[in-house]
Amino acid sequence: MRSELQRTAIAAEVRARVAQWRRAGDRIGFVPTMGNLHAGHHALVAAARARCERVVASVFVNPTQFGPNEDYAAYPRTIEDDAAGLTAAGCDLLFEPTVAELYPFGVAASVRVHVPLLGDGLCGAFRPGHFDGVATVVSKLFHLVQPDLAFFGRKDFQQLRVIERMTRDLGLDIEVVGVDTVREPDGLAMSSRNQYLSAEERARAVEIHRTLLAMREAVGQGRDRVAVEKAALDRLTAAGFRVDYAAIRCAEDLAEPAAERREAWVALVAARLGKARLIDNVLI
Ligand code: PAF
Repeated sequence: MRSELQRTAIAAEVRARVAQWRRAGDRIGFVPTMGNLHAGHHALVAAARARCERVVASVFVNPTQFGPNEDYAAYPRTIEDDAAGLTAAGCDLLFEPTVAELYPFGVAASVRVHVPLLGDGLCGAFRPGHFDGVATVVSKLFHLVQPDLAFFGRKDFQQLRVIERMTRDLGLDIEVVGVDTVREPDGLAMSSRNQYLSAEERARAVEIHRTLLAMREAVGQGRDRVAVEKAALDRLTAAGFRVDYAAIRCAEDLAEPAAERREAWVALVAARLGKARLIDNVLI
């Protein structure tokens, strides 16, 4: 029988518990989150459960990954519901640190981790400093929790690549695992930010996924990549989105594909609808 969900805000307690489990020979899986958990997060816990004897999740709305005009203050905080969901999903330990626990010298004075190039384009260009905040908090969490494996959603495709690179470049002995995007029945990728949409916007939001599928189909038919990107931008703009980008990139390093490069591609979209900024992608 599984033990109840344990909860702590103290990093030293997480370390002590994880060290105890490791001494008993358990493999530790880690699911970092910002809370407001939905089926997509529960799928990360399930993936961790499938490969690890113990699962640790964190809930922390990380101030350093939000720009000055972004939704840090408004970001939905639902910790008791999150804890109930984590219990049901089979998580063993919830780390719910305060800002002071993760940034003991204050946010402004904190060490920053920067992943050049991979983190600079796409969302990095539209959200300056965002991936520095992500790489910084994830490396702090990795050092504090010391998991064997860590699980991230593929919906945040660029984030996944940034974290993989950061982990390898810093020589951390952690396997970073990407988990498939969980979608609503109409295809919209699950996201905490979907709740910013009005009913009318929510109905329209599915157009992002449809556009991505159309991009994949057009590339499969041999259409020119730049023309496909332009058609996607026009389609989303006509549907009322303010599009940050609709792009096709190499899936491995997010570089612009050169004609002679034959490796896997990914189509990615980031677009704003009402108060929400939505991202999604499909592999080609
Ligand atoms: O994907 C998220 O929820 C966040 O960016 C993460 C990885 C938990 C870092 O704050």
